[in-house]
Amino acid sequence: MSTQDKIKKLIDLRAEAKLGGGIKRIEAQHAKGKYTARERIEMLLDEGSFEEFDMFVTHRCTNFGMEKSKFLGDGVVTGHGTIDGRVVYVFSQDFTVFGGSLSETFAQKICKVMDMAMKVGAPVIGINDSGGARIQEGVNSLAGYAEIFERNILASGVIPQISAIFGPCAGGAVYSPALTDFIMMTEQNSYMFVTGPKVVKTVTGEDISVEDLGGGKVHASKSGVAQFLVENEEEGLLILRKLISYLPQNNLEDPIVTENTDPIDRLDDALNQIIPENPNHPYDVKDIIHILVDYSEFLEIHRNYAKNIVVGFAKFDGQPVGIVANQPNYLAGVLDINASIKAARFVRFCDSFNIPIITLVDVPGFLPGSKQEYGGIITHGAKLMFAYGEATVPKITITLRKSYGGAHDVMSSKQLRGDLNYAWPTAEIAVMGAAGAVEVLHGRKLRDIEDPAERAKFIADHEEEYNEKFANPYQAASFGYIDDVIEPRNTRFRIIRGLQSLATKKLVNPPKKHSNIPL
Ligand code: HXC
Repeated sequence: MSTQDKIKKLIDLRAEAKLGGGIKRIEAQHAKGKYTARERIEMLLDEGSFEEFDMFVTHRCTNFGMEKSKFLGDGVVTGHGTIDGRVVYVFSQDFTVFGGSLSETFAQKICKVMDMAMKVGAPVIGINDSGGARIQEGVNSLAGYAEIFERNILASGVIPQISAIFGPCAGGAVYSPALTDFIMMTEQNSYMFVTGPKVVKTVTGEDISVEDLGGGKVHASKSGVAQFLVENEEEGLLILRKLISYLPQNNLEDPIVTENTDPIDRLDDALNQIIPENPNHPYDVKDIIHILVDYSEFLEIHRNYAKNIVVGFAKFDGQPVGIVANQPNYLAGVLDINASIKAARFVRFCDSFNIPIITLVDVPGFLPGSKQEYGGIITHGAKLMFAYGEATVPKITITLRKSYGGAHDVMSSKQLRGDLNYAWPTAEIAVMGAAGAVEVLHGRKLRDIEDPAERAKFIADHEEEYNEKFANPYQAASFGYIDDVIEPRNTRFRIIRGLQSLATKKLVNPPKKHSNIPL
């Protein structure tokens, strides 16, 4: 073979690999409204930045005549590239090759990029579109999954790991995305379940569609498995790029502070009006977030799940932060099981990756009732407490309105090592609301009052007395639990100042193998 022939062979092999399972299967993929593995990578990464590994890898299976059907690359495209100039490692499963099913060599390709990402300290983004374990490979495929799972586990808290589900993801295969930091699903074509509808029907008799069992909408709103639900792949890939912009490369780096032209000292007069006069009236805490942060840009996580708490990323003077905010617009912002789990996971992510946490508090307490108690609100509420108390990143808390009972302690209180705890003049910091307090404190007396009018007056008078004492931030401020009572319109400036002052914060937890968060 001449040198020219050798070069031509390389070019031909590359062209063959790029076709994956062939034109017909690529057309079938497009017909379903899906992009191919390579197209997705092109859209995700900076133009021309992708460097591919293992294009010539083929499977080694000889069962069921498999040795006769081999595809270059074996069903997954792997390598690295950049997003806004920062290195990320990627793998993208290719449904056109054996339905993207995972073989021993397929798994080895994924493990290689994960190992490289760990070595250099860069995020990994995995795009899933697969029929699961390659049936012909038997236990080798299961072992391949386990190799990936173990890497997911060891990489957790070291490099950001993000999963996009742009096709099927079934059986044990769901556990790799589940071990990563964020899962994104599309409204159509994307599903995750441990057992598919056919098995469900056989075992339990339940008749359920793929979408209702494990579609994107279900996982983004009911199970909470997916943090992001997007309309289509284009939107999803843009959001992945945006998400990366808030994250550091690894746990030893800080997130990148970007240039900011949004004035740091703008006074937002609307904030002075935003809390309703009636403390029982709701408002949308996202309006407050949008006013406070740079350019009103807020990347919300778990938007459709446990809406009584809002979490997501934003920037203050270019500094990425995680925001946790009770949402009075939904269930009065009460903390329940799902909200506690959602926020705890987010707080732990931020703490793992050196992202300061801003907490906006308006919480009437934990949701009472047998449903919550039987569901383990004690354990799950403790998760959020644990996450905040363990976190060593800068923590700034602004109490907007209610901060009652155990929920007061949980929501990044001073005693859980909150660094800066500010309150608006509308804050109410107490053991409980006035109605409940009067009921408990004056129960015996109330039982003795028979006349309803007299009873109502007694309650109103005592509620007023209670509110005067506790429905304000000044008792807490008098003990130093609140560092300052601030004018709402000046909040952005106070947060930015606070972040600047905390930039060099150093706090280390006692040495241990790992903590035992109440799971
Ligand atoms: C081998 C597979 C495959 C698999 C799909 N294919 N899944 N080959 N192993 N797991 C092949 C098909 O034979 C077909 O090949 C091609 O991929 C496309 O598949 P279709 O069925 O034609 O596509 P579609 O109609 O879109 O259906 C997609 C699907 C279905 C819903 C994913 O293929 C399916 O149900 N596959 C099996 C899913 C499954 O049960 N996997 C095992 C889960 S358990 P040809 O040549 O005909 O085009 C698991 C354990 C993991 O994954 C454990 C980890 C611990």
